[in-house]
Amino acid sequence: MKSLIACVIILFGVSQIYGLDPVQQLPEVHGNKFYYFGFGSNMLAKRIHIQNPSAKFLGAALLNNYRVDFSMPSKFWKGAVATIVPSQGAKTWGSLWEIDLVNLPEIDNQEAVHLGKYKPVSVHVKLQNYDPEIPARLYVITNEPKGNVHDMPPSEVPEDRQPSKTYLQVLVKGAIESGLPEEYVTWLTGFKHNNQTVQHLEELLELQSVPL
Ligand SMILES: *[C@@H]1O[C@H](CO)[C@@H](O)[C@H](O)[C@H]1NC(C)=O
Repeated sequence: MKSLIACVIILFGVSQIYGLDPVQQLPEVHGNKFYYFGFGSNMLAKRIHIQNPSAKFLGAALLNNYRVDFSMPSKFWKGAVATIVPSQGAKTWGSLWEIDLVNLPEIDNQEAVHLGKYKPVSVHVKLQNYDPEIPARLYVITNEPKGNVHDMPPSEVPEDRQPSKTYLQVLVKGAIESGLPEEYVTWLTGFKHNNQTVQHLEELLELQSVPL
């Protein structure tokens, strides 16, 4: 028994040294940090810093061949929240952050990975004016939404695909703050919302002056 335990300990040590630790194997991990792509509420610095004070903003980043969509109404936000869906030729803009690896469990928790609502995905994004692709972590809603909100006129966006006014204000504020292209900000600003507000978040994230 003792030798078995010793063996396990040695194997664990070797796997650490040779980088077999599954987290260290993720392409977005480098040393004790990882890259994270926020395309929803985590485009906004004040929002991401609530749970991840170590997040350092690297710039506006582009994810090709995915579209942003809205789905899975949340009680916290009083409306649908953002996800991304593989979509040939589509572009999703967001904010690229560098976060301490010790905070990875917190960001998994914020995204309710343990409840199976979201799953982490490793993608490659591009910063503006910097050619190499950067591996980054993001989170998608596990149940992919049916139908593409980009194809729906505002009057035809179903209730369960409409974000709250507060959530949409967070996205617009985050997109402007991160320097996302104007066209993308305009699309977000014009998206159909359900007119619900979350008062404590309006105050905490200073959203009152964000026009929709
Ligand atoms: C949106 O909500 C506000 C109150 O928060 C209300 O005054 C306004 O009429 C609502 N707009 C629509 C289109 O329902």
